[in-house]
Amino acid sequence: MATNEEHLLDWLRDAHAMEQQAETMMTAMCERIENYPPVRDKLREHIAETRAQAQRLESCLARLGGDTSTLKDIAGRATAFGQGLGGMFVSDEIIKGALASFAFENMEIASYTILIAAADAVGDAETRDLCEQSLREEQAMAAWLAEHLPALTKKYLVRDEVMEEGGKR
Ligand SMILES: [Fe+2]
Repeated sequence: MATNEEHLLDWLRDAHAMEQQAETMMTAMCERIENYPPVRDKLREHIAETRAQAQRLESCLARLGGDTSTLKDIAGRATAFGQGLGGMFVSDEIIKGALASFAFENMEIASYTILIAAADAVGDAETRDLCEQSLREEQAMAAWLAEHLPALTKKYLVRDEVMEEGGKR
């Protein structure tokens, strides 16, 4: 049986791997987007936030005596790399990417909600506060995506109808 502190450490490591995966995925998407500047700009902004979130998790892990260079992190990066490549030749990749991003942000929201409760349970106010900062950023990103998904979809459909193959990205 793991102690509550061990669970917290484990979940912090999972969240760190998740943020690394998020950074890899969004960076790959950013490089592919040509025709949707607001989405690209928002992704760039959130990549910077994501790096800061990973650093917050690293600081929590360091303070609690955990290590961030785990096999899970490496596995996460490999998966993200595969997903980045996987979307390359799909004509509606902007839609697939937006869908994946919205799903990913909601997973991050769940992850930080769990971390906040676990940090609370062990009386770790610093971890709780840092995770609350990241949670607010994830909620803002998820809300932005939810708000922009309908217009993005319609813009894609219009482009797809009138443009030749090169205009779809
Ligand atoms: Fe995020």
